[in-house]
Amino acid sequence: MKNKIQIILACAFIGFAILACGQSSSPSVPPAAVTAVIVPEEAVGAEAEAGSAGLGDSYYPGFGNGGYDVTHYTLDITVNDVATSDLTAITTIAANATQDLLSFNLDFIGFEISTLTVNDAPADFSRKEQELTVTPLKPLVAGQPFTVVVQYSGSPDEMQSVALPVSTGWVTVDGGSFVMSEPDGSANFYPVNDHPLDKATYTFRVTVPHPLEVAANGALIEALDNGDTSTFTFETRDPMASYLATINIDEFDIETMTSDNGIPIRNYYSSELPKEVRKPFARQGEMLDYFSEIYGAYPFDVYGSMVMNTEFDSALENQTLSIYGIDMIDYEDVAGTELTVAHELSHQWFGDSVSVADWSDIWLNEGFATYSEGLWIEHLDGREALDEWVKSQYRDVVNYPQYYAAPGNPPADDLFNGGVYVRGGLTLHALRLEVGDQAFFEILPVYFERYQNGNVSTEDFIAVAEEISGKDLTEFFDNWLYNETIPPISAMGLGVE
Ligand code: ARG
Ligand code: ZN
Repeated sequence: MKNKIQIILACAFIGFAILACGQSSSPSVPPAAVTAVIVPEEAVGAEAEAGSAGLGDSYYPGFGNGGYDVTHYTLDITVNDVATSDLTAITTIAANATQDLLSFNLDFIGFEISTLTVNDAPADFSRKEQELTVTPLKPLVAGQPFTVVVQYSGSPDEMQSVALPVSTGWVTVDGGSFVMSEPDGSANFYPVNDHPLDKATYTFRVTVPHPLEVAANGALIEALDNGDTSTFTFETRDPMASYLATINIDEFDIETMTSDNGIPIRNYYSSELPKEVRKPFARQGEMLDYFSEIYGAYPFDVYGSMVMNTEFDSALENQTLSIYGIDMIDYEDVAGTELTVAHELSHQWFGDSVSVADWSDIWLNEGFATYSEGLWIEHLDGREALDEWVKSQYRDVVNYPQYYAAPGNPPADDLFNGGVYVRGGLTLHALRLEVGDQAFFEILPVYFERYQNGNVSTEDFIAVAEEISGKDLTEFFDNWLYNETIPPISAMGLGVE
């Protein structure tokens, strides 16, 4: 409102006999005193528009919404029935308007909404597929904070990701539930600006029937025993992309430890699992300290892993609390499983703290996490072991090219194509050979430091690599990221057959 008055006053001063400022004054009518310019209530926000229903992602244009920036989500969820995940929930969103807004959108799927307020006043809303359009009583003003409270109930809609054929979001399983939402799914349990461009901090307050427990991102602040139910409150210290928000319900065995450098670790294992499940997670402290050394200090206040007693053929680097399906744990191959553990853990730097600005750049997550597996191998067993690993990855790509799309262009409906992992990781190894170890191990921490808690594009990474190496790497990255066939690593005697 202040801005608007200032603009009108300025126009009144300058505009005397010149031009209409906006549509109001006619040049032939001499203006009265400045005080005569009164801003009627209704005129405030008269130029306000609807916020866009997407954030312009090149792969998934409908993800996220424009016109505002969320600072904090508070998710108050009561699980009435674990078998069906019947929920009663209140999501409170603290946000800042980034433009004058007549209306704005949230991403939200399913549930019955009982009340929706903006700044404590009931607001109109309408729903279409994943878009919830909210029209507040009064338009929102650019730069001003506002609060949205949505009360809703029901069970999360079962949902398939648009990026890969798996169940996503809040998934109900026998005796509990878990959440993994990359790149979509969050909207099936809370109203959200669902794109990594809008990071925010979170409070999770989740009430579950006895004897169930809750594991969510961040630090456990409080666990209350209410008699028949318990309430668990978690807080994230650092902003987080919406797809990394996770709430998991089960009975857990909790293991805690601290890395040598003092990073607290808490692991949640579904309590039915045998003790052996812990083995591949025993070296997480060493991993945190090692990656802190080469990438920069661990970006969050806590870390840990969670293993569900359910097969879902996947793991996900949820911020501060990675999740694993039980089928990701190979009891017979602890060292092999450790590579998956190192992969998810390294995503805390690359993916979680430094996040993609556009989902097409997913290799910036998966290529980095895959190469982190190689660096962990090198850390344990030396350079020859790394070279062997690189060769076997390379041969796989050459032998089965159909599984490995160019990492810079994965199919939008197969975002986690092998190419973004294996060819993405090999791109980093090739870069290392191209610029030398000294430059390479400076590029990674500089890139991390510059973009932590933020978003990046492939161009941002290339710019850092060129800046530090002093080389023009345009052609190099073109070949590695966008060529249909993988280039040769001649330095290692590896070529396309
Ligand atoms: N980012 C995960 C990884 O560490 C893959 C996630 C795939 N998405 C999913 N909903 N399973 O490789
Ligand atoms: Zn990954």
